[in-house]
Amino acid sequence: MKKIIIAMDGYSSSGKSTMARSLAEMIGYTYVDTGAMYRAVTLYCLQNDLIRSQEVNEEEIKQALPYINISFCINKETGRPETFLNGENVEKEIRSMKVANHVSTIAALPYVRQALVAMQQKMGEKKGLVMDGRDVGTVVFPEAELKIFVTADPEIRARRRYEELIAKGTPASFEEVLTNIKERDHMDTTRTEGPLKKASDALVLDNSDMTINEQMEWLLVQYKKKVGD
Ligand code: DC
Repeated sequence: MKKIIIAMDGYSSSGKSTMARSLAEMIGYTYVDTGAMYRAVTLYCLQNDLIRSQEVNEEEIKQALPYINISFCINKETGRPETFLNGENVEKEIRSMKVANHVSTIAALPYVRQALVAMQQKMGEKKGLVMDGRDVGTVVFPEAELKIFVTADPEIRARRRYEELIAKGTPASFEEVLTNIKERDHMDTTRTEGPLKKASDALVLDNSDMTINEQMEWLLVQYKKKVGD
């Protein structure tokens, strides 16, 4: 069967990562979480004191970029890819509120985006890829065969992220999560470089009132239409 590129873009905590990862598992594709890449760069900046309060040291970050190596390795127990920063598993750290509070600032830096987009394009050379993010269908793979734009009500997204954090034992307050989601929506949609935007040929999925099973059923139908099964 022909291999394609599936681009899934959408708002923070819209559930696109869960859908993208599950779809990749079902159809035997590689899954890439581009948000994890921006989070890993942010973690590196925090660890190396390149972000002080809300200020970023742009020149230092630019110089540090060649030394930031991001990779994904499948966890043999869960079967899921985990994020590595310079050889260290940082899957848990990159999901913290501290990283979430700074990631939009780092993701708005044009040279950070250019470096990560180039890495992402390389990952898609052989196709057979499900990639999720904000600019996958518009900038990374404008020629992707299947593009999905995922959205949901901000309160519903905040509730999902809050429950996820609590389940993982990460301290959080619902209000803080909701504020963070709204701020990220604003920064993600208004930045100059690679803003979150629906590609003109993307299919919209508003999953505010959908179960994960309903979303997966819908997604599989779209995939099958594209590969002609
Ligand atoms: O999907 P996520 O919430 O893990 O993404 C974390 C942040 O990274 C989010 O605030 C937006 C940014 N991001 C981006 O700018 N471009 C991408 N392709 C993916 C994520």
